[in-house]
Amino acid sequence: MGADLKSVIVVGLQWGDEGKGKIVDLLSVEADVVVRFQGGNNAGHTLVVNGEQTVLHLIPSGALHADTTCVIGGGVVVDPGALVAELEALHARGHLDDPTRLRIAQECHLILPYHKAIDQARERRRGKGKIGTTGRGIGPAYEDKAARIGLRMVDLCDESIFRERLRNNVEEKNAYLEAMLGESVLDYDAMVDELVGHGRALAPYVCDTSRYLYDELRAGHKVLFEGAQGIMLDVDHGTYPFVTSSNTGAGAVTSGAGVPPTLLRSVVGITKAYTTRVGSGPFPTELSDDIGDRLRSEGGEFGATTGRPRRCGWFDAMVLRKAVRTSGVGALALTKLDVLSGLDPIRVCVGYRLDGRLIDDMPASAADLERCEPVYEDHEGWDADVSGSTSLEQMPAATRRYIARLEELAEVPVAIVSVGPARDQTVTVLPAFD
Ligand code: IMP
Repeated sequence: MGADLKSVIVVGLQWGDEGKGKIVDLLSVEADVVVRFQGGNNAGHTLVVNGEQTVLHLIPSGALHADTTCVIGGGVVVDPGALVAELEALHARGHLDDPTRLRIAQECHLILPYHKAIDQARERRRGKGKIGTTGRGIGPAYEDKAARIGLRMVDLCDESIFRERLRNNVEEKNAYLEAMLGESVLDYDAMVDELVGHGRALAPYVCDTSRYLYDELRAGHKVLFEGAQGIMLDVDHGTYPFVTSSNTGAGAVTSGAGVPPTLLRSVVGITKAYTTRVGSGPFPTELSDDIGDRLRSEGGEFGATTGRPRRCGWFDAMVLRKAVRTSGVGALALTKLDVLSGLDPIRVCVGYRLDGRLIDDMPASAADLERCEPVYEDHEGWDADVSGSTSLEQMPAATRRYIARLEELAEVPVAIVSVGPARDQTVTVLPAFD
């Protein structure tokens, strides 16, 4: 079965914001189908095409290609209002005008107003210990999925079922909001009609996406799976509890898109040439000095979803190696390399020191990781602006040595180097679809 398969899974290898939107947009030229399989509108995938910026939160980054079908798999949690707004904005600009080019899984769980209220109220109560969530209701929606009280896209498409189940849930959530969180209650009547209206708008796109993808893959069509967030935010393998509420690694494709592992093939991991993180939690290579400020301003490191300034730091090969290992990454896409121009030396973390002991893997405990001190090796920097480079040969020798060292640490090759936000600011070293 394997010989004719043409699937690529793209995942973020750090704490999100690695530049997945741009890379998926580029690979979409070749793809027949692009699929989101986890997360929700906590993601913000930025695409710059002909100088125009588009930020997608729920719709796959293949949306700007006229011949690509976009699929929102069942592992994604969908805020119906946010999806309708995103779709309308794309329609207004002439994208996704063919309704068969968007398919939404019947199984997607819905993010409802009480999920957002609970998410935000809990964060306020946590104060200094907050996770720093995006406030979009992601965690509470996944909680309800696991608790088997969630409402799904298939329910939203059946008005009478939806009205009844929503009423029951609002009653229960109001009791929780009021008694446990000290919040005011939500008005069922004020939310239900609007949600039913969103259901009507989305119903034409809702279908059995698992079966559709099975047929596409077996027909040898090119399917690209677009991860959101990054492996360090994975609820199992990330820096728990400072994580998101879904599995963000390549393995999540099977459950999140309803595709068997035997129909999957290569995994491309996206990593920035340095590290960033938004929200709270351990970040061993964080720089709280002027180099950190410089990375933030040169790299435009402000959240695409919340606008929050991102925390910035040196490249961390401990993060890289864990992410490559847990997701079976076969090739890297290295982004934002241009941002490092002018820094000398450029540091790379190659190990941690925990309570005086050298360790070569990431501890599972966030408290231990918080105490880890990075062990750095220094690399010669470069002054030249590499944002116009179209091949590795055009780059300074020090830049090439830096890339080669990251390949060595990852034990996988770099397939793509991104040197700026535009589509043409990209050096392709190896094909992603072979
Ligand atoms: P949540 O996913 O909104 O619950 O947020 C949990 C953590 O994941 C917070 O630290 C967020 O900042 C982070 N997070 C969620 N989505 C993204 C993303 O797309 N990029 C970067 N960080 C994210």
